[in-house]
Amino acid sequence: MTDLYRAAVEILQENDRGSYTIPTKGLYPFQWNWDSCLTALGQSHFDESRAWTEIETLFAHQWSDGMVPHIVFHTPDDGYFPGPDVWATGRPVPTSGITQPAVAGFAIRRLFDRATDRGQAATRARALLPKVTAWHRWFFQNRDPEGEGLVAILHPWESGRDNSVDWDDAFARVPTEGIAPYTRRDTQHAAPEHRPTKEHYDRYLWLVEHFRALNWDNTRLHAATPFQVVDPGFNAILIRSAADLADLAETLGELGLAAENRAYATRGTAALESLWSEDHGQYLCRDRVLGALIDSRSSGGLLAAFAPIPAARAARIAQTIEGHGTRFRVASQAPDDPRFQVQRYWRGPVWLVVNYMIADGLARSGLAGASAAITRSSLDLIRTSGFAEYYDPRSGEPLGGVRFTWTAAMVLEFLALADLCQSAPDERWES
Ligand code: GLC
Repeated sequence: MTDLYRAAVEILQENDRGSYTIPTKGLYPFQWNWDSCLTALGQSHFDESRAWTEIETLFAHQWSDGMVPHIVFHTPDDGYFPGPDVWATGRPVPTSGITQPAVAGFAIRRLFDRATDRGQAATRARALLPKVTAWHRWFFQNRDPEGEGLVAILHPWESGRDNSVDWDDAFARVPTEGIAPYTRRDTQHAAPEHRPTKEHYDRYLWLVEHFRALNWDNTRLHAATPFQVVDPGFNAILIRSAADLADLAETLGELGLAAENRAYATRGTAALESLWSEDHGQYLCRDRVLGALIDSRSSGGLLAAFAPIPAARAARIAQTIEGHGTRFRVASQAPDDPRFQVQRYWRGPVWLVVNYMIADGLARSGLAGASAAITRSSLDLIRTSGFAEYYDPRSGEPLGGVRFTWTAAMVLEFLALADLCQSAPDERWES
């Protein structure tokens, strides 16, 4: 057991609140959706049962229409804004009213595949299958009204890449007038120059207030908002989760659920092709209101490698990442884009969860060398800079929150991957 392993486990245990894990003390004192699913992967290395509980807790707060909210406010805490009173979703345990990347299906399948307690894994996976499928169904019913096979996000926070350059133009349509006065809390925990701007925050809140005025009725929100973006990373995660859930459902003999998820994955994978940019060597977002691709080379378009995309596309994505030329990969925005900001949140910095999903996707496409390069870079970064929320891709400077849960979880995953690579012949390391 290495020091890095021990330090990662310590962080996961320190942020564990019994049945869910907070991302970090202070900045994020509740349960976040995709954080929890990825955190469960880390937990599975030392406590399988606890890992299942993490995801089960999230799904205990699923809405009756199938949506799984992006935050569950388990216990009151003034340290975060916007809190439950701003969302006002009327849930028994308060939650936010928007969702986040649907990585649960992938996580559950991975927990199941690696489980040493096979009986427990079968029982707990079987109970989660219909719930995760209901979430996938919710996406296609509410976020894909034309049946194109891809879903839209209606708030930048749904993407998980809050202030990405991807949203700038579409977001400019969102008004800032008329919102209630507010005080941000994030900038009291982290440096303001590493966080989203005030102008972004005003628009985040306008959307929240707008959806709240529509009573969080998901059948109405898509048509009623000026911000509808089809994000390749977000869709790739949903598609991969649907494909993984289909495999898992087959293994467990749940053939109806398998067929439904398979159909989402197959249709989505084909539709993803409409977002490919040959010029940029990656996928791009589409502004659904304008019906046009968004000219922004973010990590969302690289994250598409997480879905079962054609091998040639994956190889091109690997080259594009190589071309970034940063000491630490993967920058969240192409460094030669004039809008790149080396330390501002999702406009440049490296995030380990994104690295993990890209590395996994590239490995599945047969690009072991490119995948291993991301694993190596990620572990170097942690050895240099500790378990931060995100990092400067050039210097490796740690940014945002500290002792960060999903960063620790990903380190456990990367360490396991690095072990696998070390036991393989050398050429598997080279691209
Ligand atoms: C930030 C990130 C988001 C994450 C959350 C909790 O809002 O942008 O992806 O889920 O923090 O860690």
